[in-house]
Amino acid sequence: MAKLKVAILISGRGSNMAALIEAAKAADYPAEIALVVSNVAEAPGLAIARKEGVPTAVVSHRDRPDRETFDRAVSVELERHGVELVALAGFMRIFSPWFPTRWAGRLINIHPSLLPCFKGLHVQQQALDAGVRLSGCTVHFVIPDLDAGPIIAQAAVPVLANDTAETLAARILRQEHRLYPLVVRWFAEGRVSLAEGRVAVTGATPLLFSTDP
Ligand code: GRF
Repeated sequence: MAKLKVAILISGRGSNMAALIEAAKAADYPAEIALVVSNVAEAPGLAIARKEGVPTAVVSHRDRPDRETFDRAVSVELERHGVELVALAGFMRIFSPWFPTRWAGRLINIHPSLLPCFKGLHVQQQALDAGVRLSGCTVHFVIPDLDAGPIIAQAAVPVLANDTAETLAARILRQEHRLYPLVVRWFAEGRVSLAEGRVAVTGATPLLFSTDP
């Protein structure tokens, strides 16, 4: 069976991208990473993708007069590679409403908190400041509102008494690297459906718990 063609959009380090590329190496993984796009030419993740032999494209936002022009340029790259699912992984550009509309139902993001808590930036510090005992990460559909689309899956981790934003981020990131490849697999297997703003995942549990330190 043909594998689902996935694009990953990055702006930086690309560790989630690397986890997806790694997962997709397995012969029985039902998705392939068809393209990595970055808006930042120097993004370290691009070098990883190139080393892995994954096609890459740089679409700089600096060259575009407005958000929608940038979004359309990204979309052209995605179409050129026959992309069927777009996974944001540390992509630090806010789209115009055009992009999530164009890719509705096929555009997902991973965010390092248990949404709807702690949107935006510095979310681990937000979690520490709020005193929550549990945090984690969320994979969700992308809609024009930031960090607000329908939730597909979450992974939960404990927040420990001596945590700093860095130690909590590292604990969450380990779960991100488990959760994102799983969700992309479920997509490729046709298990993920969206109706009236709520997501159903058939035949899998869209929730991970980790008590790893
Ligand atoms: C991750 O924590 C992700 O949840 C957030 O940005 C970070 C990207 O890290 N959206 P990386 O580039 O995947 O290493």
